[in-house]
Amino acid sequence: MNVKNFNIISERNVASVKDKLIIIGASGHGKVAADIAIKMNKWKSIAFLDDDNAIDEALGLKNIGKTVDAMKYKDESEFFIAIGNNTTREKIQEKFINEGLSMVSLIHPSAVIGFAVEIGIGTAVMAGVVINSLTKIGKGCVINTSCSIDHDNVIEDYVHISPGAKLAGTVGIGKGSWIGIGSIVSNNLNVCSDCKIGAGAVVVKNITEPGVYVGVPARKMMK
Ligand SMILES: CC(C)(COP(=O)(O)OP(=O)(O)OC[C@H]1O[C@@H](n2cnc3c(N)ncnc32)[C@H](O)[C@@H]1OP(=O)(O)O)[C@@H](O)C(=O)NCCC(=O)NCCS
Repeated sequence: MNVKNFNIISERNVASVKDKLIIIGASGHGKVAADIAIKMNKWKSIAFLDDDNAIDEALGLKNIGKTVDAMKYKDESEFFIAIGNNTTREKIQEKFINEGLSMVSLIHPSAVIGFAVEIGIGTAVMAGVVINSLTKIGKGCVINTSCSIDHDNVIEDYVHISPGAKLAGTVGIGKGSWIGIGSIVSNNLNVCSDCKIGAGAVVVKNITEPGVYVGVPARKMMK
């Protein structure tokens, strides 16, 4: 991965020397995050905080407490919020930022990241992702396995782009929206905040009202 060509936008501690990482959440998303963190080879130790007492460890990494314990590790650790729900992830990440905890982004070494791409703090970029030049990705996003985000996109904070989704050039995705697995957003379109785009949907017009959209072409789901 060519680290010279993209920027991680950090809230704090740009040049942090902390060598421990704590991942909040040890379920499915937490395990994928931990796998990326191990492959990044940046931290001497990695552990989880998960509120579920039944989870002792995942991927051989220990669950050392609950989310409320994070402050105990403030001086020695960096943090990553591995919670799939966009709203919950936002709530915890913003609280941590306000409390002065050091947040990191996780970028899988196999991700292909183009020229002048910006990636916000607390964002995960998973295996096989392609992000093309001049795209801006906000904080706390999940850029999931093998999705493709082309040039000049603007992905706002706390968005989830699911596995295999394809965003053409100059697409905008509003804050907190969830773009479903295998869906497509055609070029020069915007999807507003707080939308869910269903699995396999194809967005061919701007989406300007929050809601759930499914099908080809994508239409608002009425319940
Ligand atoms: C769109 C979605 C959010 C709707 O979920 P829901 O509100 O629970 O909807 P339901 O399962 O109750 O389905 C309601 C109706 O919509 C249809 N529907 C649901 N998802 C659909 C989709 N993606 N495309 C077309 N139709 C869909 C169902 O067949 C059902 O139709 P019916 O009433 O005629 O039987 C969900 O189906 C979906 O696609 N989620 C994306 C999952 C994903 O991307 N996962 C990746 C995780 S990393």
